[in-house]
Amino acid sequence: MKLAVFSAKPYDKFFLNQPRAAASLEPDTSIEIAYHNFALNDETVSLAAGASAICVFVNDTLSEGVLTSLHSLGVRAILLRCAGYNNVDLEAASRLGLFVANVPSYNPEAVAEFAVALVQTLNRNTHRAYNRVREANFSLDGLLGRTLHGRTVGIIGTGKIGVAFARIMRGFGCELLAYDPFHSDEFKKYGEYTTLEDLLSRADIVSLHCPLIESTRHIINDTTLGQMKKDAMLVNTSRGGLVDTKAVIDALKRKHLGGLALDVYEHERALFYTDHSGTIIDDDVLMRLVTFHNVIVSGHQAFFTEEALLEIADVTLQNLADFVHGRECGNALVQPSQEHGAAPIKRARSDTIPIRI
Ligand code: NAI
Repeated sequence: MKLAVFSAKPYDKFFLNQPRAAASLEPDTSIEIAYHNFALNDETVSLAAGASAICVFVNDTLSEGVLTSLHSLGVRAILLRCAGYNNVDLEAASRLGLFVANVPSYNPEAVAEFAVALVQTLNRNTHRAYNRVREANFSLDGLLGRTLHGRTVGIIGTGKIGVAFARIMRGFGCELLAYDPFHSDEFKKYGEYTTLEDLLSRADIVSLHCPLIESTRHIINDTTLGQMKKDAMLVNTSRGGLVDTKAVIDALKRKHLGGLALDVYEHERALFYTDHSGTIIDDDVLMRLVTFHNVIVSGHQAFFTEEALLEIADVTLQNLADFVHGRECGNALVQPSQEHGAAPIKRARSDTIPIRI
């Protein structure tokens, strides 16, 4: 069995080669891993030749065309080493009879803690203080923050990460509101559910923790930004496509939005996970964003802890072992059966539920 790993960074290699990750494979499973440090797309798909399975990350392209090419090269399993699967055409994968599995719940605290770090940084201007002190500037002008205790936090999406974020923010003494078509009993211990519109109109901090699906694309847009409190802060550690970036730039320029922290960006694929420091970046939208003193952008790193990477490697190889041994896989998004016909697709819970904005 040959596994081709795309978008492989040194840390992916390190964790996928850890004995603990390998131990999740049964003794009769011998895996030869080929690491490719570039992304999977129309141009690179031919490099999967000879592999029965491929392993991909958030910015690899798994369009119908790429999946068809993979299938004709002999690839039968797609292993996502991430939770989100908005970059995969699941319908096409199902028609082709491909096995697709993700890592749905690795270390939600890693992402939630990073979202809290962004809130804290933006709220207390530690990013600016760090630069000032290095220049021997100890002035506090412009660094005024707000006490988090007693402030209202709105959480959009109360799945594993949203609930972990709620637990931490409750610890700060914040009042919590949430919007999610599905209500979690765990969240109800910390706060109350409301409509999206009510949440936006009351929250001082809005944090996005829902998946990117058709009904959530640009959930933050001109209209919803207009419903937000003046001076509120927006945090997105989920997926870039949830936010209409041009609309947030406009809201920042109008001084309506008080602060913005993005770990994800709708056009991140062309830039993130690669060093572009020696090149001219032609993404004027992103470049405009980073000029605001009240905007923080990080390069999709909220998941990036040792614990999360170890878990991702373990579960990815466990998913592969399930595929190899023909076992039912609990993390399968598409699980082909022996019978003919399209394989069943496990969808995000609210793929078909319209949002209220
Ligand atoms: P989850 O599946 O446990 O929770 C997602 C929640 O969003 C569910 O409760 C679902 O009902 C809710 N939801 C669906 N449609 C909605 C809508 N229209 N409005 C409000 N809520 C809606 O997912 P989890 O593990 O909490 O992850 C959330 C997202 O975080 C993932 O989809 C992924 O895109 C992102 N993520 C980002 C990472 C990073 O490094 N920045 C790392 C891992 C995940």
